[in-house]
Amino acid sequence: MGDARLLEPAEAVAVFDTSELRTLVADMRDTMLALNGAGLAAPQIGVGLQVVIFGVANNPRYPDAETVPDTVLLNPVLEYLGDEMEEGWEGCLSLPGMRGKVPRHKHLRYRGFDLKGQPIDRTVSGFHARVVQHECDHLKGILYPMRITDMRLFGFTEVLFPDSAAIGMDE
Ligand code: NI
Repeated sequence: MGDARLLEPAEAVAVFDTSELRTLVADMRDTMLALNGAGLAAPQIGVGLQVVIFGVANNPRYPDAETVPDTVLLNPVLEYLGDEMEEGWEGCLSLPGMRGKVPRHKHLRYRGFDLKGQPIDRTVSGFHARVVQHECDHLKGILYPMRITDMRLFGFTEVLFPDSAAIGMDE
């Protein structure tokens, strides 16, 4: 956080299935896995393209987390379904060691493309919808603290959750 590249809108991917894209996604995946994240957007590693990855498998560290399929999503478009909002804790690999409670749309449809340019079209809710909104915000230059409505619910993970440092996930 503080790097101007995180605040800029990302450009759409024009050509799919290139070796450059595959290298970018492999780099993003390595970064996400090394830091135990749930998702990552290309601007977080300094690349201003509309590329996000996310995925949450069953993990004993996060027994309550819903699973989200491993996904590579290019040029995403979100469509909120209804007005229902839900508050939830979020973290971000671009501001490590912190958590904030963020309102997100509960239900949404998202569309985009995979690495090869095949269309993706999913209707999701809850944690899956939250992860997608968090990652796609990165493509618009928005970091989750900008979405927090009650700044009292923003702080250091180890202070907020002294007994469970792993609560919430970095994205
Ligand atoms: Ni993030």
